Amino acid sequence: HIPVIRTLGQLRRWRKEAREKGLEVGVVPTMGALHEGHLNLVRTSLARHSLTVMTLFVNPMQFAPHEDLSTYPRTFERDLSLLQSILPPPISPRQMRGLVIFAPTPDVMYPLKGELQDLRNHKGVEVDVRGWADVMEGASRPQFFKGVATVCTKLFNAVEPDHAYFGQKDIQQALLLRILVKDLLLSHPSPSNLHILPTTRSSEGLALSSRNAYLTPSELYVSPVLYKALYAAKKLYESEETAEGKDITGEDLIAASTRIILDEQERILSPQTTEPKGKGVELQLDYIETFDKDTFQPIRGPIGENKQFVLAGAIWVGKTRLIDNLLVGWE
Ligand code: PAJ
Repeated sequence: HIPVIRTLGQLRRWRKEAREKGLEVGVVPTMGALHEGHLNLVRTSLARHSLTVMTLFVNPMQFAPHEDLSTYPRTFERDLSLLQSILPPPISPRQMRGLVIFAPTPDVMYPLKGELQDLRNHKGVEVDVRGWADVMEGASRPQFFKGVATVCTKLFNAVEPDHAYFGQKDIQQALLLRILVKDLLLSHPSPSNLHILPTTRSSEGLALSSRNAYLTPSELYVSPVLYKALYAAKKLYESEETAEGKDITGEDLIAASTRIILDEQERILSPQTTEPKGKGVELQLDYIETFDKDTFQPIRGPIGENKQFVLAGAIWVGKTRLIDNLLVGWE
């Protein structure tokens, strides 16, 4: 039986008790609609800390007006039973140990009256990680990181976690939160206790995502192309040379990935394609980019050796936008 905390008062009492007992707390922030990627974050936190808080909150502030806030999958009962199924058996019924869920309502997270009514004329506090929130994913989704940074600051203040767990799947989000924690002098978590865990994928390489639930079977069939495209570029860099034997450039990697996506697009549109799976799916490239892990700036020209960067991309498969990335030169 997993306790579900709904109010700030309950959460603060629970946190106080944990502190008094000297128990370490890990947090795993999510928007629910759980899949194996989320569960792996929870498993790690459960294995490392006495207590884990999974937060389940579909944060309105990070959705633009035209985005999928109203249709975002909400599967609370299913999430609960999934979590139940991965919990180790209790050591003793009285022991304060294991997992709790924090599932606040929007007015708990946004207590100023009317704060959420009109985000364009927003009167509450916003956390904006200037210079990092407006590039890459932020360029495609201008409000997004402000919403993420704001809600995560609130969650960190509410839970006061010793450790926090995020997925590499959303690498810019995780790196940006590390900058946030450092620049706002937060100690719960400290920047070094904000952990980024590897992306969980399907056997075809597709990064698991709550939004994969939107995909039709044909779209699912096509979707691993993003991973394949990024993987090919990573291998190209690791092989260290272009065909001309010159130093590989950021542009070369982008071109190599883009080619794979365009080829797939051509294949599924071609009248010659007999393969029924994936035929006719609308595949659109949003962007492929290489960016420096510390500055988030795109890498142009020869990359050179020992560079630590991210190869990231976003595609539209039908009406669903998918993102993915691979780390190069660091883990
Ligand atoms: P959500 O998309 O639910 O993701 C919650 C956490 O799970 C994030 O840290 C995300 O990177 C991680 N995650 C998602 N898919 C993953 C995968 N395939 N492998 C590994 N980790 C994965 O990201 C958010 O929610 C929100 O922006 C949030 C941080 C909760 C703020 O609202």
